[in-house]
Amino acid sequence: MDNGLEGVVAAETVLSHTDGERGMVLVRDYTVQELVAHHGYDGAVALLWEGFAGEGLTRAGILKAFADGRQLAFTRLAGWLEAAARRPLVEGVRICLAAVPEESAPAVIAAAMPVGIAALLRAQRGQAPVAPDPSLGTTADFLRMVRGAPVDKLIADALDTYFTVVIDNGLNASTFTARVVASTRASLASAVVGGYCAFTGPLHGGAPGPTLDMLDEAAASGDIDAWIERKLAAGGRLMGFGHRVFRVRDPRADALRESLQRLGPSVGRLAFAADFERRALAALRRHKPGRSLETNLEINAALLLDAVGLAREAFMPVFALGRSAGWIAHAMEQQKTGRLIRPLSNYVGPQPTG
Ligand code: ACO
Repeated sequence: MDNGLEGVVAAETVLSHTDGERGMVLVRDYTVQELVAHHGYDGAVALLWEGFAGEGLTRAGILKAFADGRQLAFTRLAGWLEAAARRPLVEGVRICLAAVPEESAPAVIAAAMPVGIAALLRAQRGQAPVAPDPSLGTTADFLRMVRGAPVDKLIADALDTYFTVVIDNGLNASTFTARVVASTRASLASAVVGGYCAFTGPLHGGAPGPTLDMLDEAAASGDIDAWIERKLAAGGRLMGFGHRVFRVRDPRADALRESLQRLGPSVGRLAFAADFERRALAALRRHKPGRSLETNLEINAALLLDAVGLAREAFMPVFALGRSAGWIAHAMEQQKTGRLIRPLSNYVGPQPTG
């Protein structure tokens, strides 16, 4: 029994693989660096969904299916947006996903995310939703729907890199949840709601916002080493470090750093973050000897999401947007090839007395 299922293999997949020793994420047979260089987010969805959402999928086909899906999602906003906009964003997105009809196609479910999140962010600022532009890809249209105006290509490319590197990553907690839901033959829409719920916690998809808070706090303290020591001595965790699978630096962190460097203005913050990372790794080695606590993707992810102009509370839902294509792929694979997931528990409570 391992209460975190560490090292337990619970699925066979053709979709993605995280090699924690070599520091590699493979999606189908591409590294995330290759996906970024040659496919982009919508192209990566075509690769990931091939054989599950259809045969011979192409980037052009996904662009069209997503454009249609965004338009449909926009017509459905009236059914849920007003009530959801009065709730915190994490709940609003849950309501958005819960409103997706039961038998929706994969592209319709995925397209509900950019439209719904953009509409929620605007509603919180008292602004009306902006209709999707079917001529754009997911990332450029999402940012346009958030801001109400087209964004610079460099900015859209940076967020597209982020979405591409986080699209899928083996059997992480949210993906496993989506597969458990799908294993009962529940709908894809329900699997995505389940995946989202598992994703929201700070140890998983909720990490980027608190990571930026941490960097700000450390910078404001004026003494990074003392701040880190205080945090670790109090039993706290340094956001952006450690991973259940990676024993070396997460390769996605470097793909994001290259993208940030191209953005230019973030360079000052990148230098601070690199300095913080060096000091934090040294402190973690002192405080947790024998543990392989290396840099995960969250510091660069947080800097990138901030640099493209997203509000801190939007970080988790935006991360979920990128990951939703992975949940859908795994739910489809589970439905096609898997069995009902039903492990056992070890009863440690009292025995009957009579
Ligand atoms: N800072 C300080 N100590 C840490 C950290 C950290 N970031 N991560 C792990 N540890 C310590 C734990 O306190 C524990 O120490 P102990 O054995 O002395 O009690 C030991 O390392 C092992 O920790 P576990 O919680 O068993 O490791 P697990 O594999 O469950 O944790 C996790 C992985 C949740 C990512 C963890 O490293 C963490 O909390 N990191 C910070 C949050 C974060 O960056 N999350 C984003 C992850 S990436 C993603 O999901 C997209």
